[in-house]
Order: sequence, then C-alpha cells, then structure tokens
Amino acid sequence: MNYTPSNISQTLTITQKLLKKYRIPQPRLEAELLLAHCLKTDRTGLYRNPSRCLTPTKSAALKKLCQKRTRNIPMAYLTGRQEFMGLSFKVNRSVLIPRPETEILVETTLSLITPQKPYLIMEIGTGCGNIAVSLAKLSRNKKIKIFASDISTRALTIALQNARQHQVSDRIKLFRGDLFAAFKKLNIAGQIDLIVSNPPYVSEKEYQQLPADVKNYEPRLALTTGKQGMAIHQRIIKGAGRYLKPGGHLIMEMGIDQVGHLKKLLEKANYFDKIIVLPDYRKISRVIVGRFTRKS
Ligand SMILES: C[S@@+](CC[C@H](N)C(=O)[O-])C[C@H]1O[C@@H](n2cnc3c(N)ncnc32)[C@H](O)[C@@H]1O
Repeated sequence: MNYTPSNISQTLTITQKLLKKYRIPQPRLEAELLLAHCLKTDRTGLYRNPSRCLTPTKSAALKKLCQKRTRNIPMAYLTGRQEFMGLSFKVNRSVLIPRPETEILVETTLSLITPQKPYLIMEIGTGCGNIAVSLAKLSRNKKIKIFASDISTRALTIALQNARQHQVSDRIKLFRGDLFAAFKKLNIAGQIDLIVSNPPYVSEKEYQQLPADVKNYEPRLALTTGKQGMAIHQRIIKGAGRYLKPGGHLIMEMGIDQVGHLKKLLEKANYFDKIIVLPDYRKISRVIVGRFTRKS
C-alpha cells in the first residue's frame, strides 16, 4: 500500500481499501476516524479541505495506526477516545471501551432521578468513569453526589481524568476496592438512593468465543467473572440491602440469557418489591432494576 504524501481525499480512499482488505468493519468510517485523529480534527474537518496534502510525518503516523488496526487493536485504543451518551471519554487499555448498550443503563438511572432533591448514588466498577460522569453531567439535578469504585487503580486514574475534563469532579468521589469494600470508610449504610453497575458479565464459555479485538486487548477483569458471568451481580444484590434507602433502586446491566437467573436472585433477596427489565436496541433484556423496600 502506497503511503507517499497525497491529499486527504486520496489518503481516505487508500486507507479505506487497506482496512477493507483486512475485513475491518465499516472501513470508510474507520479510515475517517484514523485520519481525523492524525490531523487533530474531526470527521467533518476532513471534508472542509479535501485537497490539502498530508506531510510525510502525518502520512507515516497514519500508516502506523492502520497497521495496528489491521492487527485488530480496537479503534478506541488507537485514538484514545470513545463517545458515550454524546460525550467524549478518554480510554486506554486499562479500561473497557464504553458500549452503546450501557447508555440504556444510564438513561434508566437518569429517569429515576427527580429534580431538586439531593441524591446519593453509588457506582460499582466505574472503569473510565463513563456512567458516573454521564449521570453528573446530564442529570438536570445538580444536587447529586456519586461515590464510584473500581478494583483497578489504573482505571480510576482514567476515570478521574474524565471527571475533570467534563468538570464534574466536585460531584464524583472515586474509591479503590473490591465492590462495597471500597466504601468501608464512609458511613453511608442505608443512605444510598441509587446503586448502579455495569459489572463484568461474560461467562467463561462466551469469553473464549469473543472477537480478537475484545479478547486480546480489553481487560479480562472488566469482562468476565465466574463460570456463568453472574458472580459479581450476585454479590452486588447481596450487599445492596445494606446501603440502599427504602424506596431506593438497584440498577444493573446484564448479558444475554442472564435475566431469568438475576430476577430469581433479586426475588430471593426478599427486599426488592418491584423488579423491572429493560431491553436494549436489539431487544435483548439488558438492564434490571429492583426497588428496595426494607430488610426484614
Ligand atoms: C464491564 S466494566 C464497566 C466499565 C464502565 N463502567 C462501563 O460501563 O463501560 C466492569 C468494571 O468493573 C471493574 N471490576 C471488576 N471486578 C471488580 C470488583 N471485584 N470490584 C470493583 N470493581 C470491579 C473492572 O475493573 C471494570 O472497570
């Protein structure tokens, strides 16, 4: 593939062809994203002056990125950014790349927040902070305070950068630790309005079958746990009863075929009086919500 300096339009065509040859899905879109990243512009910026020539340095940088992409390194790790809820998030290989399905989790949580009243929200497994930051940024209620945790220190470093970039770091406090243990120094039992989590939920079997760009590059810790992929959900359901206020909600994302088992776990806990399931864009049951009554 010839990468001698040429203009934007020609470079896009060459790059698209290369990506297509390596069966990269949406080769035109990805060519635009890679070139826009190299030229420090956005996709529309490329078309403002398509006859502009690339410098040899930019051409070489694009060539390197394309080679990495053809080795299945995810696009978001190459550009260092991923869009979620219309906001741009910094990502690297320490964090899961935010997925569109998780927007259902955020929209459901936003719908449970009424204006004005102060809210205490707990997020478990924050990764790059996309859920916590979106809630703080997009909720009309500016009295919400979010305690977000992750077991990965590296993920929390990225989450802090995203919270700062979106100017919500005053409303998000980050904690490192294993699920609820992260919050052990806070005196917040029975005070939380909403607990939200997109925990790792890929089963052992599904993990083996994941596409190369996911399995080889995204953190295993963020993807899978236990044989059935529901070990963390189970622990969250158990621990939620200690932290939620009566009338508070637990909102969790889940995987394909997990809804039946998770519904049973919520019912068995005996302190959720209303359980709702929401589908994603592909009509797969994706989010489960339980309203907390009181522990008997
Ligand atoms: C599926 S990712 C979700 C990341 C992000 N919230 C999102 O929705 O894109 C799960 C996250 O949970 C974290 N995690 C895994 N096990 C954990 C544990 N035992 N305690 C706390 N966090 C954990 C992982 O490091 C990862 O960041």
